[in-house]
Amino acid sequence: MDYDVAIRGGTVVTASDTVRADVGIRGGRIVAVADVIDGARQIIDASGLLVLPGGIDSHVHIAQASGPGIVMADDFASGTASAAAGGNTTIMPFAMQQRGRGLRECVEEYRELAVGKCLIDTSFHLVISDPTPTVLGQELPALVKAGYTSFKVFMTYDDLVLNDRQLLEVFAVARREQALVMVHCEGYDSIKYLTERLEAEGKTAPYYHGPSRPQIVEREAAHRAISHAELLDVPMMIVHVSGREAMEQIRWAQQRGLPVYAETCPQYITLTEDDMKGLNMDMTGAKYVCSPPPRDKESQAAIWEGLQQGVFHTFSSDHCPFRYEATDGKLNPRGRTSFRWVPNGIPGVETRLPILFSEGVSKGRISLQQFVALSSTNHAKMYGLYPRKGSIAPGFDADIVLWDAKRRETITQSKLHHGSDYTPWEGFEVVGWPVMTMAKGKIVAENGKIIGQPGDGAILERGRSPYATRNAQH
Ligand code: URP
Ligand code: ZN
Ligand code: ZN
Repeated sequence: MDYDVAIRGGTVVTASDTVRADVGIRGGRIVAVADVIDGARQIIDASGLLVLPGGIDSHVHIAQASGPGIVMADDFASGTASAAAGGNTTIMPFAMQQRGRGLRECVEEYRELAVGKCLIDTSFHLVISDPTPTVLGQELPALVKAGYTSFKVFMTYDDLVLNDRQLLEVFAVARREQALVMVHCEGYDSIKYLTERLEAEGKTAPYYHGPSRPQIVEREAAHRAISHAELLDVPMMIVHVSGREAMEQIRWAQQRGLPVYAETCPQYITLTEDDMKGLNMDMTGAKYVCSPPPRDKESQAAIWEGLQQGVFHTFSSDHCPFRYEATDGKLNPRGRTSFRWVPNGIPGVETRLPILFSEGVSKGRISLQQFVALSSTNHAKMYGLYPRKGSIAPGFDADIVLWDAKRRETITQSKLHHGSDYTPWEGFEVVGWPVMTMAKGKIVAENGKIIGQPGDGAILERGRSPYATRNAQH
């Protein structure tokens, strides 16, 4: 027997090609892509199915401390099970530094939570919230060398916001260490001002989360971040872009030749601010509260424009799961009623690929190649996992999803595996669905059933991102 597994009769799709081919797997890696593959211990019939690189979701939050008493709904076991059921084979969560604490000790804590729990491979970005001289001069450079080659900074949130001087200092380390800096672009002071004004007017329902951080606040922060990055001549990734205004800033930067990259998410092509109205402005609107907030139909069109034109490199979930009904969940945030206290974030790691496929490929907005690039290949390239992850060719990990392009499904909470007690896409109809997810040659999920075990997934260190180097070839 030459192969452990042969995937036979399917159509292999990569970011560059669509070919009818069999895939031969040995030792967890792809060793052959050929017309016919014989001689395997296990044969998987993929006739009528697409054979795609497993999804890589480079923006998820798992088991992250989110404020006093607020617990995220997924640990690494449930989060990676949900990801696998949704066709993903790698996730990239955040190891978040809490103010007053060393970066290294925070990273160790997240690693401990993850080791032995993950069903699929997992690799951490860092979050820098307290850029002390020790963090910038010692801990961060050492962690980058140890394989934590990307880190996120925030321009808002009381516990996380960095001022302009601090942003510049972090950007300078990113440049020196050739790490990729990811930026959450929303302006802290404007949000605070608008929030207080809305509350003073008695506008406290979840719906007002949107007006408290309108597009102009995101646009201003995006422009400021771009300017800082240009000043220091450092590449940058702007995450979770929600609408036209920020997208146009990024496109403007790219047209000027700046190495500014961008990510968007399912919520910005499918949800709108009206979802946060809930039923007659009640608390059910809290189920859609995330930051930046969903915008309007025109913004959705702008996001598609950005996806089609290549302004966006990655399409991630920003999975940030909270429960609705739990104590300190979205319904009753710390016993307070204002939108300000609703935990920010929505679950979506399991629904990201079906939504992009259905709204993108099935509706003719993007090609199969764009789908694979946006959901897998570009994530691997952007964050230093390529050429181990993100494509189907000899030498790559056998991270593969078998995809039924014709299958119609209605997204509903009972089908999902996340720890949240709801999905923002309840009742949303899709065409295209993952039927089998294989990670490193082993089936981890099949038709909604979880087959993988905690510990099957490794915690990966990564190489430098080629995108983090100015003028690099990628
Ligand atoms: O609302 C969101 N997106 N929560 C997750 C944290 C973040 O900013 O990505
Ligand atoms: Zn963010
Ligand atoms: Zn996020």
